[in-house]
Amino acid sequence: MTEAAPVVTLDGPSGSGKGTISRAVAQQAGWHLLDSGALYRLVAYAGADHRLDAADVEGHARLAISMQVTFGVGPDGSEQVLLEGRDVTQAIRTETAGQGASRVAAWPAVRAALLERQRAFARPPGLVADGRDMGTVVFPQARLKVYLTASAEERALRRYKQLKEKGAGVSLAALSREITERDARDSTRAVAPLIPAPGAEVIDSTGLPIEAVVGRVLELGARRSLWPPRT
Ligand code: C5P
Repeated sequence: MTEAAPVVTLDGPSGSGKGTISRAVAQQAGWHLLDSGALYRLVAYAGADHRLDAADVEGHARLAISMQVTFGVGPDGSEQVLLEGRDVTQAIRTETAGQGASRVAAWPAVRAALLERQRAFARPPGLVADGRDMGTVVFPQARLKVYLTASAEERALRRYKQLKEKGAGVSLAALSREITERDARDSTRAVAPLIPAPGAEVIDSTGLPIEAVVGRVLELGARRSLWPPRT
């Protein structure tokens, strides 16, 4: 595989902080960002929108190829996800949407259909890719692979706070259960299960502030000459 641009991958379970850390690293490095989880969420969402049968694998795989997605910035400067021109930023962030994503993500045809779409994000000067199989399947040539984790309790609590901030009515106990269920499905599926890529740098972020984790990733990247060392 030829390298269109250097890639840094951040994989890990839900609530490990991948999204936040990836965004901060991409911003500080001036690199592009791929939120691959959003693509799986969008496939499930588009499927429901098109009233596809929940078990229609081929239908969902076709949508994975044909759906029109735009990752952009909204009027208030926050990130915005458009599906066929419609703002679905909040709609795809619910835990229900996460469950839907995890269901379609277990289908090899959907994963295969999203492969090229994901690889197309690798453009100069570089890409930070966030997901479950970024380092194992999508970008095996990545220059730096990070596997981010945290204790189950802390991950549930982080997701709880995140969803609460967005005004969602959630219960910590229910969320904890759902996340455990989703992680179990993501880790045990036959294709592209959630596992650290060979050679991945494992970071346990339990009890660590965001800045410390971002700093660690930036330091690992600087050591590989991906960007200048921080002063
Ligand atoms: O990261 P996020 O919570 O948005 O991902 C939603 C779901 O999409 C995950 O639970 C997982 O099942 C699936 N996913 C995946 N591979 C990726 C990214 C997400 O299977 N690279």
